[in-house]
Amino acid sequence: MKSQVVLKIKSNIKLAKNIFLMKIFGYIENLPVPGQFINIKIENFFLRRPFSICNFKEDTISIIYKIVGKGTKSLSKMKPNKSLNVLYPLGNGFDLNDVEKRGKIILVGGGVGIPPLYFLAKELKKLKINFEVVLGFTTYEESFFVKEFLDISKLHVASIDGKIGKKGLVTDILKEISHDYYFTCGPLAMLKAVHKIGKEGQLSLEERMGCGFGACMGCSLRTSTKVKRVCAEGPIFKSSEVVF
Ligand SMILES: Cc1cc2nc3c(=O)[nH]c(=O)nc-3n(C[C@H](O)[C@H](O)[C@H](O)COP(=O)(O)OP(=O)(O)OC[C@H]3O[C@@H](n4cnc5c(N)ncnc54)[C@H](O)[C@@H]3O)c2cc1C
Ligand code: FES
Repeated sequence: MKSQVVLKIKSNIKLAKNIFLMKIFGYIENLPVPGQFINIKIENFFLRRPFSICNFKEDTISIIYKIVGKGTKSLSKMKPNKSLNVLYPLGNGFDLNDVEKRGKIILVGGGVGIPPLYFLAKELKKLKINFEVVLGFTTYEESFFVKEFLDISKLHVASIDGKIGKKGLVTDILKEISHDYYFTCGPLAMLKAVHKIGKEGQLSLEERMGCGFGACMGCSLRTSTKVKRVCAEGPIFKSSEVVF
């Protein structure tokens, strides 16, 4: 069940070029699951901004965001102790039913699609499920959380500028390592390429959002079965229902 709460900023630090890690804390009643997101009300902006939950611990939720427009720019200037109106946890989250029967699991993340996969990686580790992680960055300057993933998983990294990991795309790495099932989040071109490989998996999709909780149909998306709302029936979709 979703709640609208006022949480406070614990920290808001720059992780990489234009990329920030924000921790917000307070009384967290409804515990989130990996793949879910929060919707933050930013002063002077009518629409809330959605961000995936990157980590959750006791009274603290972490998000990682990239400055892409006025809302995220404003977020990056916020200082600790500032109150934030937050709607959470939103969306369906990754389906981990029978995950132990899926064979070799791989997590594939690109850019600011990486945050929800960190929460997922921690959960899989807790469940004692083996998995490997493939992360893709455009440049070394925009890379983040490499050490954090290394601490909990076998990690492969690709970057376009070749300054961190293998030069190229995550799909270049995917061609080299066998896997049976994937969880992925990242830029549309990456999601399409991962989907095209043809294995079974789950994809976290993005759409521009209005309400964020299923009321406005603003985030509707065509799937193989019917039109679904990314904020309510998603953002996680099975590979079999995704139509690119
Ligand atoms: C489910 C979900 C999870 C997300 N998780 C993350 C995350 O973990 N880290 C991160 O950096 N970004 C994430 N995004 C994208 C993030 O919401 C946008 O980058 C952000 O809203 C841009 O706001 P802005 O005011 O800076 O940009 P502007 O372009 O000025 O925003 C204008 C409007 O478009 C919407 N918008 C812009 N880009 C997107 C987008 N890609 N998806 C949805 N709405 C968008 C904004 O919410 C706003 O209503 C997520 C988006 C969705 C839908
Ligand atoms: S954003 Fe309103 S229904 Fe999804």
